Amino acid sequence: MMDDLSPDLQRAYAPQTFREMGHALVDQLADYLDGVDTTPANVVPAPEDLLEEFRGFLSGGTPPKTVFRRVIDNCVHVHSPNYLGHQVNPPVPAAALADLVNGILNGSTAIFEMGAPGAVMERLVVEKFSELLGLPESAGGFLTHGGTLANLTALLAARAARWPDGDPWKNGNSNVRPCVLVNEQAHYCIDRAVRIMGWGDEGIISIPCDDAFRIRTDEIVPAIRTAIAAGKTPIALIGSAGTTSTGSFDDLATLAVIAKEFSLWYHIDGAHGAPAGLDPSKENLVTGMKEADSIAMDFHKMLMTPGLTTALFFRQNQEAYRTFHQRADYLLSFETGSEDWYNMGRRTFECTKSMISLRVFILLSTYGERLFRDYVIRVNELGQKLAELIREKPNLELATPPDLNIVCFRHRPAGANTSQEALNHLNSMIRARMLAESQYYIVQTTLHNQVYLRCTLTNPMTGEAELEGMLEKVVRHGNELQEFKMNLPW
Ligand SMILES: Cc1ncc(COP(=O)(O)O)c(C=O)c1O
Repeated sequence: MMDDLSPDLQRAYAPQTFREMGHALVDQLADYLDGVDTTPANVVPAPEDLLEEFRGFLSGGTPPKTVFRRVIDNCVHVHSPNYLGHQVNPPVPAAALADLVNGILNGSTAIFEMGAPGAVMERLVVEKFSELLGLPESAGGFLTHGGTLANLTALLAARAARWPDGDPWKNGNSNVRPCVLVNEQAHYCIDRAVRIMGWGDEGIISIPCDDAFRIRTDEIVPAIRTAIAAGKTPIALIGSAGTTSTGSFDDLATLAVIAKEFSLWYHIDGAHGAPAGLDPSKENLVTGMKEADSIAMDFHKMLMTPGLTTALFFRQNQEAYRTFHQRADYLLSFETGSEDWYNMGRRTFECTKSMISLRVFILLSTYGERLFRDYVIRVNELGQKLAELIREKPNLELATPPDLNIVCFRHRPAGANTSQEALNHLNSMIRARMLAESQYYIVQTTLHNQVYLRCTLTNPMTGEAELEGMLEKVVRHGNELQEFKMNLPW
C-alpha cells in the first residue's frame, strides 16, 4: 500500500520526519524564549520586502526551520518583558503545545464522535471558570473563536430570547426595529454584530461615558424610554468589563438592575476583563457580573492562552441552545430536541472547531487554578505600578486611573501652553519613534479626540525596570520633540 504513495507524500507523513522537525522546532522555540528578553520587543519589516522574501519560499525545498526562523524574527515578541502593547498575552508554553496536539489530531468538537475529549474538556473548562467567576450553578456555555464571535453569538441568543413577536430566525427582522444599548467606548465588534444582524444604524444606541470612560448609568433609562417612544424595541443592554481603550469597567450591578426593570437581555463583554475577580482586590469591579444573561471572556487576553480561545457563558445554560435553530440532518439530530451538551456544533457559530479547550485544560491539569489567579493578580499589580510611576513624572499624565492592566497616558510638557492638536501630534510622534526604535512596544489610542499612549501589561515577566525604561524613553522623545518644535509643522 505504502508503495503506491509518491515519495513526497511518504516523506511528509513519516513519523520520523515529524520527530526530527518537532524536536528541532521545540529547541528553536525554547532558545527563542531563552533570549527573548534581550531582543527588541517588536520589529517593523517593510511589507513589500517581507512579501517578496516569503514568496521565495513558495517553490518548496526550504527546511521548515528556515521559515520558522523568519516567522519568529518578523513577529512582535509578546514574551518579551518589553512588550507593553495590545491585549495579547504571552501564552504559557504548555498551552502552545496543545496546539501541536490539535494540529496532529485535527479533531472537531462539532459532533462528539469527531472530538470526544474536546467536548468533555470544553464542558469542564466552562464549569471551572463559571465557578471561578462566581456564576450560579445554572450557568453553562461553550468555547468559540474570539470575543468578536462570542459577542455576536450572545446577541443572537438575546434576539432569540427577547424578540417581541414571531421568530426572527424564520421571518427575519420583519417590522421590528430592534436595538441594543452600550457604552460609546465599547469594542467595535458590538457595532459590527448589530449590523450583521441587519439592525443598521438605529440598532445601536451609544451611551456616553463619564470621565473614567464608564457608561453613564443616568443616561441609560432616558435612552431606553426615547427608543421605545420612537417605536424601537430595545433587546439588550451591554456592559463592558472593561472597555478596550482604557479597560474601564461599567457599573455592572446598576446595569443588571436596569436590564431587569426593562426585561432586556443583559450581556457583558468581558473579553478582556471578565477574569478580574480572580484578583481579590478587584472583586468590586465584577459585582453584578453573575446577574448577566451572557458573558464573553477571552482566554488569549488575560489568561495565558494562545488565541483564539473565548468562553461564552450563559446564566441559564439552556439559553445557549436557542441561538441556532438550524437543521443539519447529516450532523445533528433534532428529533428529540434534547440538549446534547457533547455535540458542540448545536450551540457554536463554527461547524469544524478544533479542541481549543485543550489549551486551557492543560494549564488547569498541570498547574491548577492557582496559576490563573497568580497571573491576574500580577498583571493587575503591574498596571497599578505603571500608573504610580506615571503620576510621579512631571511631564506625563494618566487618561484615567487604571481599573486593571491597561494604562493610557500622554506626554504633556509642564508649563507649556500646548493646544490639543499639538499634544495629539506630539504623542503620535512619540509612539512612532517608539515603534521605529523597537525596544519597547507600546500602542496609542484616541479618547474624546485626544491621543494617548496605551500599554497593556500582559507579561508577568515584565518588572519595574522595564516600566521605568519605557517611561524614560517616552519622556526623552517627548522632550526632544518639544525642543525641536520650532522646526516642526505644529
Ligand atoms: C472589550 C473587547 N471586546 C471584544 C474584543 C474582540 O475580541 P477578539 O479579538 O478576541 O475577537 C476586544 C479586543 O480587543 C475587546 O477589547
